[in-house]
Amino acid sequence: MPSTSRVSLTRFLIEQQREKGHINGDLRLLIEVVARACKRISIAVGKGALGNMLGSAGTENVQGEVQKKLDVVSNEILLEANEWGGHLAALASEEMDDPHPIPHRYPKGEYLLVFDPLDGSSNIDVNISVGTIFSVLRCPEGVKEPGEAAFLQPGTKQVAAGYAVYGSSTVLVLTLGDGVHTFTLDREQGSFILTGSNVTIPEDTSEFAINMSNIRHWEAPMKRYIDELLAGRTGPRGRDFNMRWVASMVADVHRILTRGGIFIYPRDLKDPSKPGKLRLMYEANPMAMIVEQAGGAATTGLERILDILPQQLHQRVPVFLGSKNEVERVTAYHRESGA
Ligand code: AHG
Ligand code: MN
Ligand code: MN
Repeated sequence: MPSTSRVSLTRFLIEQQREKGHINGDLRLLIEVVARACKRISIAVGKGALGNMLGSAGTENVQGEVQKKLDVVSNEILLEANEWGGHLAALASEEMDDPHPIPHRYPKGEYLLVFDPLDGSSNIDVNISVGTIFSVLRCPEGVKEPGEAAFLQPGTKQVAAGYAVYGSSTVLVLTLGDGVHTFTLDREQGSFILTGSNVTIPEDTSEFAINMSNIRHWEAPMKRYIDELLAGRTGPRGRDFNMRWVASMVADVHRILTRGGIFIYPRDLKDPSKPGKLRLMYEANPMAMIVEQAGGAATTGLERILDILPQQLHQRVPVFLGSKNEVERVTAYHRESGA
């Protein structure tokens, strides 16, 4: 393809606004600003030890997890980039206890942005792919100072969702509710270029992603499902299954978007107070929107993730997502068992 025919993210968004009417100017600006912040995070991630970016920040977030330097830096990059543009009413993040209001010196917009600034923190120091996940909601009408309650909307209300994966290349994946599109960062030029339109996830797969070390804590339907996969060709599924687990949700989901698969982080009995590890608002919901938009499915094992009415900003949920037929099968096992 000659370079003159390349479609940049900017051009893609302008065409979405002009021709399809999918987005307005503020949402276009919001996506551009998030993409620009992801470029800065990509640069910080890429510097590694040379940028003094590795290791712990010596602080804990609201979930009691030790923050890495890059968790804190990425959060600051996203905050700074998004505060002043006039497109947001408030922001919320994995790394902040409460929503972050827009400072009074700046105008306020109609959108709410929620993000996981750096997903896959345990992989930073070992040079394995990490990413950023984001979700865009509308600020409820009449709410002037949006607090936690304004964010507690089901995933079906997301107007956009996306992630950036900082891997061997940096890729931005975006949905505005009309298919899933991927953009690869041209590092020399500094812009995201459209490299995949209307990406779809195959309905069937022979690859699963799960942290098998938790097997002793799983509930019965989970054990049944994985036992059947592991039994392979001579078992009830009649074929062999392969396993991959990066331990960065962005990277695992990106593989599934590229070639299919099922990603599972189930509820387990290790800590009964936690209904799963992953967070609904800035991990499960945006990924569920992307996966559904790509023809896949996303459930908690019992219900559709996007239908959950959130109770808390940092609430956790079990996650089953990816190739439709596998997600439906494991969900049926859970429903049958009444778990
Ligand atoms: P984060 O780094 O934002 O806290 O998220 C980490 C998540 C997710 O990316 C990944 O799928 C999962 O934690 C890995 O968990 P295990 O370490 O239990 O495998
Ligand atoms: Mn995460
Ligand atoms: Mn994170």
